[in-house]
Amino acid sequence: MTRATGISRGDNFTNRAGEKLAHLKETGQLKVLQTIEGPMDATVRLRGRGEVACFCSNNYLGLANHPEVRQAGIEAIERYGAGTASVRFICGTFEPHERLEKTIARFLEVEAAYSFVSCWTATEALFPTLCEDGDIIISDELNHACIIDSMRLCTTIKKGVRRAVFSHSDIDSARRALRKACDDPNVTGTIWVVTDGVFSMEGDIARLPELRSLCDEFGALLVIDDSHGTGVMGETGRGTHEHHGMPGAAIDFYTSTLGKALGGGAGGYLAGSRRGIDLILQRARPTLFTNALPVTIACSANKAIEILMREPQRVRKLRENTAYARQGIRDVGFEVLDSPTAICPIIVGDTAKAIAMSNRLLDLGVFVIGFGYPVVPEGTARLRAQISAAHEIEHLDKLIDCMRTLRKEVAT
Ligand SMILES: Cc1ncc(COP(=O)(O)O)c(C=O)c1O
Repeated sequence: MTRATGISRGDNFTNRAGEKLAHLKETGQLKVLQTIEGPMDATVRLRGRGEVACFCSNNYLGLANHPEVRQAGIEAIERYGAGTASVRFICGTFEPHERLEKTIARFLEVEAAYSFVSCWTATEALFPTLCEDGDIIISDELNHACIIDSMRLCTTIKKGVRRAVFSHSDIDSARRALRKACDDPNVTGTIWVVTDGVFSMEGDIARLPELRSLCDEFGALLVIDDSHGTGVMGETGRGTHEHHGMPGAAIDFYTSTLGKALGGGAGGYLAGSRRGIDLILQRARPTLFTNALPVTIACSANKAIEILMREPQRVRKLRENTAYARQGIRDVGFEVLDSPTAICPIIVGDTAKAIAMSNRLLDLGVFVIGFGYPVVPEGTARLRAQISAAHEIEHLDKLIDCMRTLRKEVAT
């Protein structure tokens, strides 16, 4: 019991949580999870709804249900069993981890890579391990939540690490932040500049060549999270650096996910210099205190990268599909932010409106998710259509037709 109210602390929590949930429901902001009853593909089977065209997964290359990617996972489970049952440094490093990490390093043309159970975990390992007192991390204001949280964690653990933010993709703002860092007597160590490669909510891309030049000018390291760029950007899907015509080694550290274009199972990685990766292996809490990436996923992801290297035409198809969908959505009267990525955001403003529009699209047979606060800032809620190489013209036309119907309904 709390002395003031006579209500038990448990009841206090239950009431508070209940009120919050009721408020979300009343205001149309409650998320309802859809349950999928089959594989992730161009269409998915939803419980209670049947087959719908899927435009909200990150299955950019259509590899999540590719027969070779599936088979690689099946063979892994037969050869290595169901789980690693261990942290990597204890007895959890299996052959497929080494193989996958070599493949990733080769794919990105960097010295080394290390896998994690997610990109979130990889990012959480990065700054708290590699930064030291006297360092500063300078971040794009729209960077993914995992970067923000890794920076917060780092500066909480290491009080002498500083952080700064620059306006989204604003090179002048980044330059000012770098200049300020150089003039700060407390910044005696390394300057880190970090950006998403592809910004997941806007679908735009980082200005990597300019950021690289700035980093060179100020002696800073450049880190990118290319979770939505890997497998999507550049002629061969190497990522946002390739889109800009930059070699892999132009970026000091990459984080990315295996949970999107590269098979979509789960998992992530950190890639860059051998020394950086060695330090991660020795000292990062997510390498020392949490389990290894499941071997089935390591094998499936490795196969996915092999397929991508063998079939760069998948990236081309994704690009063509995206251009077709983007134009079609525009033609029916919605504004879609322009970009070379596979993310088509349609800003609608209000969270409840975005959710209602998403529900209506689902009734019409296409699965396009609506995002609102706290995923994006208040007042910038949006529908986000994500395109895949798995989509055929019939799926894209269905999306466009349903968007046309929606457009007429919201206009009346
Ligand atoms: C830009 C970005 N970084 C990181 C992540 C997290 O990836 P993972 O699911 O592998 O932790 C996401 C996923 O939503 C993302 O969009």
